[in-house]
Amino acid sequence: MADPLFRTPKGTHDVLPEDHVYMTFIKKAVRHRARQAGYKRIDTPMFEYRGIFERGIGAHTDIVEKELFVVGSPHAEKADQDFALRPEFTAGICRSYIEHAMDQLPQPVELYAIGQCFRHDRPQKGRYRQFHQFDFEIIGLKDPSLDAQMIHVLSNILADLKILDRLTLQINNIGVAENRKAFAEALKEYFIGKERHLPELDRKRLQTSPLRLLDSKEEDTRILLKNAPTLAQFVGDDSKLYHATVLEYLQELGVPFVENAGLVRGLDYYTQTVFEYWDRSEGAQNAVGGGGRYDALIELLGGKPTPGVGFACGMERIVWHMKEAGIQAPNKDQVDIFVAQLGPEAKKQCLRLIATLRDRGVHTLGALGEASLKSQMRLADRFDVKYCLLLGKMEVLKNTVILRDMKAGKQKEMPFDEALPAVVELIGKKNLDRYVLKDGFGAVDED
Ligand code: HAM
Repeated sequence: MADPLFRTPKGTHDVLPEDHVYMTFIKKAVRHRARQAGYKRIDTPMFEYRGIFERGIGAHTDIVEKELFVVGSPHAEKADQDFALRPEFTAGICRSYIEHAMDQLPQPVELYAIGQCFRHDRPQKGRYRQFHQFDFEIIGLKDPSLDAQMIHVLSNILADLKILDRLTLQINNIGVAENRKAFAEALKEYFIGKERHLPELDRKRLQTSPLRLLDSKEEDTRILLKNAPTLAQFVGDDSKLYHATVLEYLQELGVPFVENAGLVRGLDYYTQTVFEYWDRSEGAQNAVGGGGRYDALIELLGGKPTPGVGFACGMERIVWHMKEAGIQAPNKDQVDIFVAQLGPEAKKQCLRLIATLRDRGVHTLGALGEASLKSQMRLADRFDVKYCLLLGKMEVLKNTVILRDMKAGKQKEMPFDEALPAVVELIGKKNLDRYVLKDGFGAVDED
């Protein structure tokens, strides 16, 4: 049993090579759809002044109140706790928009980010303390077509990853701040005299963030809410029209949705449009992604009033869905050929051959140790390679090499110089083009 101190901390996990195959594929789909629609990649720091999250996401949200990873230097004169690991991207991206005067660029500015986020949540299935998000934001222009187009990009990504049919798009419009303020007051009034029937957490929420009551899981709260005023009664006509237009555009784009008047989201910055992709079978608990409009956020962070809309998806949850659906992510890590050798001279020749094969784009393993040819063959089998090149003492003398087809169990001897063209022929030109760097671009995966 390993020392518990030397294991991954609670709520974190290693992304092992078999999962990287999925992560890489997801990133590829994200980059592909982002480029098609003109989004540019941005990276913000993993930690920011914590005030950005407190102000942006909301001091009374779970994310800030309970889940913020506060960090700072214990070496500073007075231990400073000014920073927090990012629990999401939106607040940091908006900070960056202001800091770099992106309002001077053609609007809207479309940005996307991929990376780790941190929330000190209670770990459970699909809920981690360190996880990956991909995130899209459109800042600086407001139009219902932008909301609809962005959701369409998201649905295309989920379709590319072959999990769209497992999910439903839930969508709502929560109105503007004044609407929610009026609703919150009405809700508080409704609960006068009924507070004692509310579970403690919801009683507190009624005071700090009444909207959160709407997605409370507590049975007592849900019963009491049946006769309570609804948010929809307070949403203004402008927002209703905006919502109807977003839905119309979604229909135009062929994106199915479910209107959900109870959807409010857990971050305070939202205005009007909010949406989530839910697991068809499980309900809200494990949304794969979600987002919405945040027209007041940039001003809240010190910028001039600037509209924005965005979403983020949890990549671990997507990987889970892909595995559940039996989807294999295409894998470029397959080793094509194993070069087995025996004797010092053969080993030297093989080193050169292996290097040349690799340069030509053939994934090649070999010249690893001093084991017998037989045990090298066994190793090649375990690496699941299709072909082997064998170079023993005899072959060195004859200047030949043996090419073995591992699946067919057949082999043939050929002059050493013919090995390279023969292998290139076998692996296929199309495969090889994927791997060879062209002017430094195109062939390798960006992170
Ligand atoms: P969010 O709903 O808090 O929204 O997170 C988005 C997604 O991140 C969730 O749907 C979920 O898949 C994943 N996620 C969240 N917390 C965890 C966790 N503890 N473990 C694993 N996955 C998790 C936002 O973060 C907003 N910034 C989205 C947005 C962008 N709104 C506007 N622009």
